[in-house]
Amino acid sequence: GATLRPKTSLSGRHVLITAGPTHEPIDPVRYIANRSSGKQGFAIAEAAAEAGARVTLVAGPVNLPTPAGVERVDVESARDMERAVAAALPADVAIMVAAVADWRARDVADQKVKKDGGDPAPLPLTTNPDILAGLAQSDKRPKLVIGFAAETENIVPHAQAKRLRKGADWIVANDVSGDVMGGAMNTVHLVHAGGVENWEPMAKRDVAARLVERIMDEFPD
Ligand code: CTP
Ligand code: CA
Repeated sequence: GATLRPKTSLSGRHVLITAGPTHEPIDPVRYIANRSSGKQGFAIAEAAAEAGARVTLVAGPVNLPTPAGVERVDVESARDMERAVAAALPADVAIMVAAVADWRARDVADQKVKKDGGDPAPLPLTTNPDILAGLAQSDKRPKLVIGFAAETENIVPHAQAKRLRKGADWIVANDVSGDVMGGAMNTVHLVHAGGVENWEPMAKRDVAARLVERIMDEFPD
């Protein structure tokens, strides 16, 4: 249930959030992307701003309005997102909600690639930088680094492994085995060094409010 807290508990804190997918160009008309509406990240940005934080929202291509009081930086690719995150530092809290494309085309064509009647040419890929892991290891590391992990199976074990591998403090493990993508509801487990908190299924805006409450606990005035 909702706990009554002063609305300004994150005042003076800078919260940096990534949200949405990234688009990795193949040619001027084609790209590689993940499925992500951006709704969860935008809801967290809104909740953090309502809690009094200064919020920087680095957003991939999404069709969503900017929440009130949030500074939004629009980006396309993972490498753009990585640069925008670095430029927004320092921050007290980083919440990496973006569904970053793991790979991009190794070679981007200057002109639209045409069908030539035969089989398509192979599309060599290369790996994108891991923005969360890079931030967690940087000398400007925010005090609290939070990742999201969308999983379809073995949700908590995968999230625990990800937390350690990436050096995040918390992983919000997101059960996407159902109909979450683009919808309003989410089932999450908060994974940290102290264990696992299983949250009941709830609206994305309630996940956002609850997460911001948990963040406030880490920043007592
Ligand atoms: N992430 C990131 N940069 C990347 C990939 C992921 O910052 N290049 C962040 C996401 O924003 C998220 C967390 O890392 O907070 C976990 O993303 P996820 O895709 O679940 O992790 P991966 O390590 O890419 O593992 P998987 O093979 O399951 O995709
Ligand atoms: Ca990934």
